Amino acid sequence: MNDLYKNLIDNNKKWVESKLKLDPEFFNKLAQGQSPPILWIGCADSRVPANEIIGAEPGEVFVHRNIANMVVHTDMNMLSVLDYAVNVLKVKHVIVCGHYGCGGVKAAMGQQSVGLIDNWIRHIKDVYRLHKKELDSISNEKQRFDTFVELNVKEQVFDLAKTSIIQNAWKNNQELQVHGWVYGVGSGIIKDLGVNVGNDSQLDDVYQLNF
Ligand code: CO
Repeated sequence: MNDLYKNLIDNNKKWVESKLKLDPEFFNKLAQGQSPPILWIGCADSRVPANEIIGAEPGEVFVHRNIANMVVHTDMNMLSVLDYAVNVLKVKHVIVCGHYGCGGVKAAMGQQSVGLIDNWIRHIKDVYRLHKKELDSISNEKQRFDTFVELNVKEQVFDLAKTSIIQNAWKNNQELQVHGWVYGVGSGIIKDLGVNVGNDSQLDDVYQLNF
């Protein structure tokens, strides 16, 4: 067995020891259940580990990750995570966290086929088409890429707000805010995009549901 694989289990043993040294009850407490106040929707990219970059401990953040932190309305995986987080765990905040240098967003800017994933990336291309005028006007490619990453996060925040799950929670006066962030893989710094949605008033009429 190669060292890289074996090291994972050894590292786990060391991690358990370090946690128990700080708090002998650490795992006993976690075994009682979870009530995280935050749902994180992030990119699957290995450089953006949700808990680590916000200093969260196990039990503090419910996490869903996919390529380019997308909110696709027919994605049963995302919808199930969202439903459980909102209706069972009663999270107070949903954070969509994208990141600069995102491979999925980069692929969506180009026309090269990359296989089956083209069909996932097409959802990101839809964001480009929505903001084509603004994006096409940015001549610097890196700047255009960074702006596209930010616009994609903002669209996913509004796509979350359009779900029946979040609108139903708001109709029931459940305290629930949706936020958009972008993480800098080269700096470690999170940029808050300032999109904070706590009701359906920012959505086009056609998306506002009556229950
Ligand atoms: Co990414």
